Amino acid sequence: MQIKQILAEAAVGSEITVKGWVRTKRESKNVTFININDGSVIHNIQAVAEAGVLNEETQKLITTGACVAITGTLIESQGSGQKVELQVKSALVYGTADPEKYPLQPKKHSLEFLREIGHLRPRTNTFSAILRVRHTLAYAIHKYFNDNGFFYLHTPIITGSDAEGAGEMFRVTTLDPKNPPLNEDGSVNYKEDFFGRETNLTVSGQLEGELGAMALSKVYTFGPTFRAENSNTARHLAEFWMIEPEVAFYELEDNMALAEDFTKYVIKYALDNCYDDLVFLEGRLKEEEKNKKQEERSELALIEKLKFVIDNDYVKLTYTEAIQILLSSKRHKEGKFQYPVAWGIDLQSEHERYLVEKHFKKPVILTNYPKDIKAFYMKLDEVTDNVPGQTVRAMDVLFPGIGEIIGGSQREDNYEKLAQRCQEVGIPIESIWWYLETRQFGTAPHAGFGIGFERLVMFVTGMTNIRDVIPFPRTPKTAEF
Ligand code: 4AD
Ligand code: MG
Repeated sequence: MQIKQILAEAAVGSEITVKGWVRTKRESKNVTFININDGSVIHNIQAVAEAGVLNEETQKLITTGACVAITGTLIESQGSGQKVELQVKSALVYGTADPEKYPLQPKKHSLEFLREIGHLRPRTNTFSAILRVRHTLAYAIHKYFNDNGFFYLHTPIITGSDAEGAGEMFRVTTLDPKNPPLNEDGSVNYKEDFFGRETNLTVSGQLEGELGAMALSKVYTFGPTFRAENSNTARHLAEFWMIEPEVAFYELEDNMALAEDFTKYVIKYALDNCYDDLVFLEGRLKEEEKNKKQEERSELALIEKLKFVIDNDYVKLTYTEAIQILLSSKRHKEGKFQYPVAWGIDLQSEHERYLVEKHFKKPVILTNYPKDIKAFYMKLDEVTDNVPGQTVRAMDVLFPGIGEIIGGSQREDNYEKLAQRCQEVGIPIESIWWYLETRQFGTAPHAGFGIGFERLVMFVTGMTNIRDVIPFPRTPKTAEF
């Protein structure tokens, strides 16, 4: 029986067996207390062995980190902190953990240290809580889309196209890197490669998602995506999971409404279903904040912050309006932004965070960005500031503490305009003929967005480094396991 089930439903007086990993052992003359956790909940179960019940050898092998099966009677606990405990009858040690070597001894470990022992960190309270929240959010995402008529579309991991046109792809090849076949002009001959062409790991499932939406109307993807951007920040991974809904007949406004409803739903689902884990994570954040200066501490505790997002409307404004706010800010006037503000710039994280954390103090949806800083597939606005075609029907959702959590847009559905944009940004028409054909055969207005799953998990768990919300992070120069 899992500890979660025991705590929820096992009857006092019944005999049960608990299997899990020992967190702590405390011995006194008459009795030994063994705390066990099996990862099913944040709570441990305390097993109490009276002197003489376990033989000396077993008793010695039960140390922090050991894996055990303990059988006993569930009784009401006399101690504080737990309602029930296990009165031990017998114990089996599956695997020992030498106390001289096992790194997770019961004391506080830094997140940096835990990153170095990624193979063991899921056994800590913090990481098991994060992994349970991560699981629950993934489940909530599928549930939301299923309940709202979307179909889960599996888009390819290996592709021949660069959906974002940003050139940040990992190449997939079976050619010998030291001795590849060459063309007459000395360039690599990819015709001899496995797929007979250049291929890479996908940066986004959007283009294929659009093909799905042009048939099933409402689809979403949820899969790993890969970016070889060399940004060693607390918000970027080389391998991250993205969820990308794509909907036929949606315009930008519908897309914004979907993004708001969807994020609120999944956050609420985590609150309703992972409350104990979130209480634990909130407690650890409060401890961490004690070491920070007053002005750096967050105004709301984790659970209050999540409820605040669920209960309040997101602010919606255009890129142009956001630039005006930034230009009239004291920070800009005092020259304190690292990157100067001007219409046309790609907003940096410092600008986004100023808008969300200092100015509005709420999630913000920014729309209608300049076309030159956005991807080729976004629908051109008819008119911006009396000039046609300067901006696109883009939207970014910005969250407090995170910055950009969602990027999306209404898509260009006009064949000529899309073909022209491809030409402008240097995408050969013949390389994405299949994408362009959907604009020739039964084109329709459509829109969608991508949400970075790890950024969502960061927001919900309050973790501040993206490496701490994915079991096995991939970042520049780290890909162990
Ligand atoms: O804004 P992005 O690049 O948009 C797209 O890829 C579109 N094709 C999505 C769509 O419209 N279907 O990425 C979307 C989101 C970002 O807002 C961010 O949350 C996340 O993906 N993201 C990353 N997360 C972690 N590490 C990285 N390197 C990320 N790059 C983007
Ligand atoms: Mg983006």
